[in-house]
Amino acid sequence: MTDATAALVLGASGGIAQAIITQLMSDPEIDIVVAVSRKPAPSHLTRASNTTSAPLWIESEYAEPAMARVVEQLQPFAGHITRVIICHGLLHSDTVWPEKRLEDINANTLQAVFQANTVVPALWLKLLHPILKGKQRCVVAALSARVGSINDNHLGGWYAYRSSKAALNMMLRTLSIEYARRVKNVKLIAFHPGTTDTALSKPFQTSVPAEKLFTTEFVAARLCRIMHDAEIDGQLSYLDWDNKSIPW
Ligand SMILES: NC(=O)c1ccc[n+]([C@@H]2O[C@H](COP(=O)([O-])OP(=O)(O)OC[C@H]3O[C@@H](n4cnc5c(N)ncnc54)[C@H](OP(=O)(O)O)[C@@H]3O)[C@@H](O)[C@H]2O)c1
Repeated sequence: MTDATAALVLGASGGIAQAIITQLMSDPEIDIVVAVSRKPAPSHLTRASNTTSAPLWIESEYAEPAMARVVEQLQPFAGHITRVIICHGLLHSDTVWPEKRLEDINANTLQAVFQANTVVPALWLKLLHPILKGKQRCVVAALSARVGSINDNHLGGWYAYRSSKAALNMMLRTLSIEYARRVKNVKLIAFHPGTTDTALSKPFQTSVPAEKLFTTEFVAARLCRIMHDAEIDGQLSYLDWDNKSIPW
C-alpha cells in the first residue's frame, strides 16, 4: 500500500497517450504515472528529471488473463488512483482499412476494430473497478470519437470504426450506471480529442485544414484540464476537446 497518487495510461505507446503521460508527469497532483502498452517504453519517457519521475511502464497484451495480471501489479495503488486514461484505438493497420462503401464490410475488420475500440476498454473497466474504489476522487476518460455519435452521422462510411466507438459510448454509459452504485468516487468521460496529428489520423490528414489538426500536446493539455475540473456526478459525459457536450 502506498499513499502516492497514481495516474494510469492504458494503450500508452500511442501519439495522444505519450503526450498525456508527459503532461501527467509534470502535474504536481500526480506522484506516479503508470503506463501499460504492448510495446516497450519510448526512450524519451524512461528518463526522470529534477521535477518528474519516469513512468512505471508495464508491457502487456490485451487478452483478459494478461490484463488481470497487470491489475494485480497495480494492487499497491488501490484507493490512490486519481486518473485513468484509456487510449486504445484502431482505425487502420496492415490488414484493416476504413470502409468506403458497404461492399467493404468485412467480418475480420469488424472483429479487430471492435476488439481494440470496445472490448479492451470494457475489460479494463471491469478488472480495474476494485482498485479504483476508494475515498479519492478518480476521473476516468476513454478516448472515443465524434464519429461514434449516431446523431452526428451525416457522412456514413467507416462502418467498423464508427460503430465500435458508438458501442464504446454505450458500454461506458452502461458502466457509469453500475459505477454510480458501486464505485461512487469515479467520474467517467468519453472524450473526443478532435483530429490530432498521430499515426492513426496520418492517412486522412490531407482534407483537414491546418488549424483543425491539433498537436498531441494541445489535446493532452485540454484533456488533463477537463479531468482536473470534472465533477463526480455518477454520469457519463461525452465531451470534445473544448469541453463541449457531443450529442449521442
Ligand atoms: N488521432 C485522431 O485524430 C483521433 C481522433 C478521434 C479519436 N481518436 C482516438 O484517440 C485514441 C488515441 O489515438 P491516437 O491518435 O493516439 O492513435 P495511435 O497513435 O495509433 O495509438 C493507438 C493506441 O491504441 C492501441 N492499440 C492499437 N491497436 C490496438 C489493438 N489491436 N488492441 C488494443 N490496443 C490497440 C495502442 O496501444 P499500445 O500502446 O498497446 O500499442 C496505441 O497506443 C484512439 O482511441 C482514437 O480512436 C483519435
